[in-house]
Amino acid sequence: MAVFASGTGSNAQKIIDHFKEHPQVRVALIVSNKSTAGVLDKAREAGIPTLLIEKEAFFRGNAYVPALQAAGIDFIVLAGFLWKVPAELIKAYPARIINIHPALLPSYGGKGMYGNFVHEAVIAARESHSGITIHYVDEQYDHGATIFQASCPVLPDDTPETLAARIHQLEHQHYPKVIEELLLTQVVKNQNS
Ligand code: GAR
Repeated sequence: MAVFASGTGSNAQKIIDHFKEHPQVRVALIVSNKSTAGVLDKAREAGIPTLLIEKEAFFRGNAYVPALQAAGIDFIVLAGFLWKVPAELIKAYPARIINIHPALLPSYGGKGMYGNFVHEAVIAARESHSGITIHYVDEQYDHGATIFQASCPVLPDDTPETLAARIHQLEHQHYPKVIEELLLTQVVKNQNS
């Protein structure tokens, strides 16, 4: 699989750790749109190849499909990747691109709803709960079919930072396992077809 990330990459790190010794699944590439993203250092430390993508080629070129195919990628995991995924890439990887969102979709999703903006909105609305959503990626932001959700309380004295920390814990606990289940199900399906 390839992991796409734009930021620090704490989820990417958990995914790398989870699959380090895995007999069937390998994190073969870390993709980022930001040359300064912490995730690129994490990839280098783990000895995983990286690909820095550029806007023009991603949105108006070949969406890096040939490069991904050449690297043997057959599944894509978004982990804090903030660019919209172009149709060309979705077409090349049907039902094989998933994303994690730090809220209970369909609430608090869509353009501009990422990272702390999500947690600020949740706190401002005085929600009693928030959570995470893992979903397939389609051509709209935060829109594809839901695969998994988990929730946690929003406490009365929460700040966006304290809520973000609780949400990150949930993400780290569940994302690698959900990816593994999904991939192993696909392996079995491929063997039977
Ligand atoms: C995660 O909380 C993820 O859910 C969020 O970005 C964070 C990345 O953290 N993604 C979005 O908001 C996408 N709309 P990380 O770089 O530490 O993994």
